[in-house]
Amino acid sequence: MTINLIVAMDHKGQIGNKGGLPWENIPIDQNHFRNVTIGDDPTRMNVVIMGRLTWESLPKPLKDRVNVVLSENMDFKIPGILVLNSFEQVRLFVHELDPTFFGDVFIIGGAKLYEKFLPEAERVYLTYVAGDFEGDTLFPGHDTKKWQVTSCTPYAKGSESPYDLEFIIRDRIKPETPSE
Ligand SMILES: NC(=O)c1ccc[n+]([C@@H]2O[C@H](COP(=O)([O-])OP(=O)(O)OC[C@H]3O[C@@H](n4cnc5c(N)ncnc54)[C@H](OP(=O)(O)O)[C@@H]3O)[C@@H](O)[C@H]2O)c1
Repeated sequence: MTINLIVAMDHKGQIGNKGGLPWENIPIDQNHFRNVTIGDDPTRMNVVIMGRLTWESLPKPLKDRVNVVLSENMDFKIPGILVLNSFEQVRLFVHELDPTFFGDVFIIGGAKLYEKFLPEAERVYLTYVAGDFEGDTLFPGHDTKKWQVTSCTPYAKGSESPYDLEFIIRDRIKPETPSE
């Protein structure tokens, strides 16, 4: 079971503003998010895990994925959605997922969840959004020496994006096995 992060940020590392995104809708990035988080294995469902504020920023539950929302409020319930109350519960849930039925796990924000799960993640799907935006929520800093860029695909602004973008995949560099 691999843990992945998926995030869109600007060059300042901003990811959110006033409960929403710092930028206008980016249809091509919404498609990218959907395709990556659903994946291409129809036999196993992927899991998306998010903080309560990110949940509230969504128009509706994310279809074809198991939605998990983190809140400290034990009374917070959403019909049909799994609400967990601590990082420990999330960790336990992830480690107990049956790989016969469930595929990859995606941490989809916000800031605290990214920070907490970055050390355990193997892959980060990053969309860089070019532009100057106002923001109040930042992606946590991370040691780029521990990550390699596996792919970087530029996308020029047009009808599917009001901004120039880069779709980047970063994979954790595996420690070298000592030779005998
Ligand atoms: N650009 C992107 O890719 C992206 C992705 C996601 C979100 N965003 C943006 O980021 C902003 C939301 O992010 P955020 O960081 O402010 O909030 P968030 O992480 O989405 O939600 C924070 C909430 O999650 C719950 N939570 C966090 N840590 C917890 C823990 N250890 N145990 C139990 N519950 C915990 C708490 O809910 P309770 O208060 O209910 O206890 C907390 O108030 C929005 O502006 C959103 O649009 C952007």
